[in-house]
Amino acid sequence: MRLTVIGTGYLGAVHAACMADIGHDVLGVDTDSGKIAALAAGRAPFFEPGLPEILIRNTRAGRLRFTTSLQEAADFADVHFVCVGTPQRADSLAADLRHVEAVVDGLAPLLTRDSLIVGKSTVPVGTTRTLTRRVTSQVRPGVDAEVAWNPEFLREGFAVQDTLRPDRLVVGVTSPHADRTLRDVYEPMLRAGVAYVSTDPATAELVKVAANSFLATKISFINAMAEVCDASGADVVTLAEALGHDARIGRAFLSAGLGFGGGCLPKDIRAFLARAEELQVGEAVSFLHQVDQINHRQRRRTVDLARHLLGGEFAGRRVAVLGATFKPDSDDVRDSPALAVAAEIVAQGADIRVHDPEGIDNAQLVLPGPSYCTDVMEACRDADLVLHLTEWRQYRALDPVKLSQVVRAPRMIDARNALDPALWREAGWHVRALGRPV
Ligand code: UGA
Repeated sequence: MRLTVIGTGYLGAVHAACMADIGHDVLGVDTDSGKIAALAAGRAPFFEPGLPEILIRNTRAGRLRFTTSLQEAADFADVHFVCVGTPQRADSLAADLRHVEAVVDGLAPLLTRDSLIVGKSTVPVGTTRTLTRRVTSQVRPGVDAEVAWNPEFLREGFAVQDTLRPDRLVVGVTSPHADRTLRDVYEPMLRAGVAYVSTDPATAELVKVAANSFLATKISFINAMAEVCDASGADVVTLAEALGHDARIGRAFLSAGLGFGGGCLPKDIRAFLARAEELQVGEAVSFLHQVDQINHRQRRRTVDLARHLLGGEFAGRRVAVLGATFKPDSDDVRDSPALAVAAEIVAQGADIRVHDPEGIDNAQLVLPGPSYCTDVMEACRDADLVLHLTEWRQYRALDPVKLSQVVRAPRMIDARNALDPALWREAGWHVRALGRPV
């Protein structure tokens, strides 16, 4: 099939490459000509394991091409995936739908054949209905364009495998034709047994928002338990493990620590709160305010603990920060809890050195103050305190004995509860964590 994918950020670039990889003829579209040039040359504009390989394979095979022209997109295919960003608005909690609207406004008047516009971006419930009116009022006479919603559940760092082998496909359609078309698009996955939920657009939009809200709630739940553990001497890591054995609860997303960040969970729960208010059911989801607050409290708790370990003052102290991205296996620093802690510690007068395996370039743009190091030992040299803020695999492999020889004082906060405290204590470190006994 011929498909276009409009918007080539994390979601769109991966979707375009994966759709080509399962055999479709794909045209990726973006207004950013630099990004388009990189993708056309088979280069991923961000760090995502596995993506460069499938980009190269499919651009070379001629199944994957890129353009900045919506006209070319309209001429190329009858199925158009919309994958542009829906960030939080600057003036409220709500989602900013400008990019989605701009795509629809640009594409609709150019369509010359009946078409299916399939939104994949995360949007407030009710968006498909609004966009349908917008499209209908702008298409040429005689052209029929349906809008469907097909939310995406991929995680950064696992985006390729999540797209090629998703847990489920959810499509929100208003006609049997749209349903058939999407079944054809995803036919190889359906053949492999992937669950396919076909529903109305509002339910499909809501599935995505509800899923991210549930995940965020799970994380804040365990972080709330971590606070109780700190007050009572219990251990949140063992607690999570024991809870996780209950199949109804499950261990996933019960890792307590610095909390969630990134371009999705934080803005999605806020946009949901805003949309629920509009629908006059704000009270039903008001617990998400608590979820957001608990999440932010972990950043404050980490800064407070760090200050306490340094004797009440950051000024004149050197702090090593391990990790800048919002999670490992990503170079994304959007709403990164690690960078938020780093920024606060800098603001309070500490001299910090930040290490991250992939995120330094992006981190420097957001937080230009500190020194950034490409070597962990260098970042930790003469440090009065080491903060482990993003649980990259290589930090777990660090040798605490070697590291203790370069720091000024072997003090560490494992704000991701990902290191083995016994190992570090044996090597002479004073280790603190969130929700674990001293
Ligand atoms: C999230 C969802 O997991 C995806 O299913 C969804 O498709 C995506 O948002 C999206 O809306 O596009 P992502 O933002 O890539 O994916 O990251 P997650 O793996 O969900 O992690 C989010 C944050 O939660 C990270 O900062 C991570 O460190 C934190 N986290 C995760 C915890 O603090 N504890 C946990 O147990 C799990």
